Amino acid sequence: MNPLSRVAIGSLLILAGPLAHAADGQAIFNRGGQNPAAMACMGCHGVDGKGIAAAGFPRLAGLPAGYLAKQLRDFRQGSRKQAVMEPLAKALDEAEIDAVSHYLAQLPADPAPDLRRQQIATDPLTRLALYGDWGRQLPGCVQCHGPGGSGVGEHFPPLAGQPAAYLAAQLQAWRIGTRSNDPNQLMVNVAKALSDSEVEALAGYFAQPAHQEARP
Ligand code: HEC
Ligand code: HEC
Repeated sequence: MNPLSRVAIGSLLILAGPLAHAADGQAIFNRGGQNPAAMACMGCHGVDGKGIAAAGFPRLAGLPAGYLAKQLRDFRQGSRKQAVMEPLAKALDEAEIDAVSHYLAQLPADPAPDLRRQQIATDPLTRLALYGDWGRQLPGCVQCHGPGGSGVGEHFPPLAGQPAAYLAAQLQAWRIGTRSNDPNQLMVNVAKALSDSEVEALAGYFAQPAHQEARP
């Protein structure tokens, strides 16, 4: 084969690449992607995709597909730096990212916490979560993340049902700059306005739906 036709065949293969396989989101979740470095998601994110709280591995089940796909691309291009997910995301191709994100989005999630939480703000932590602190130009978390932190649309992910250690790690990542993928810097300003103890307290507040059930 002459070098020219080799190049031609090579570019045909590259063009055909993304169409060469119909990516199966469920198969990727259970067994991993075509590239062996794209390990099965359920190994860390739980057989039901609800995460593994004790290990701080986040819930993916029921998160919006657009948000999930964005995160995978952010890990890949470096606006979200994290040693475990970066190589995994790089090992997925475009079709696989879309397929696994759509699969995850339709997995059942635990019900969102009680809406009554919206109205009850008797202590400083709850006030911060619900109404923010305008002295610090800090909006309430639920103003973007929805009632009880249940998430809003494709862009504002749920906080409810995530492990506390994961939520705290994300807030810290924005503060130190390893996560810089938020549209219009919506989260970096929020995270930087919080103290360390507020980060821990808010992470615990949103991680535990039981917290508000104990309230009247
Ligand atoms: C070896 C463990 C491991 C495996 C396997 C794994 N993940 Fe992760 N994943 C993590 C960890 C740890 C994080 C938290 C990263 C951080 O702190 O930024 C994470 C975070 C994520 C996030 C961000 C969630 C959010 O709420 O922003 C997405 C999306 C994700 N993983 C998708 C996947 C997919 C899809 C697969 C399978 C192809 C997968 N992961 C396999 C450990 C893993
Ligand atoms: C002005 C809107 C806005 C407000 C207010 C806000 N957030 Fe966010 N938050 C976002 C957006 C947008 C994202 C997703 C960024 C991205 O695309 O990665 C996000 C993501 C997060 C994440 C990462 C979730 C995940 O699955 O990785 C955490 C944790 C978080 N916010 C906590 C909070 C807390 C706690 C508060 C209140 C102190 C708060 N946010 C207030 C807009 C907001």
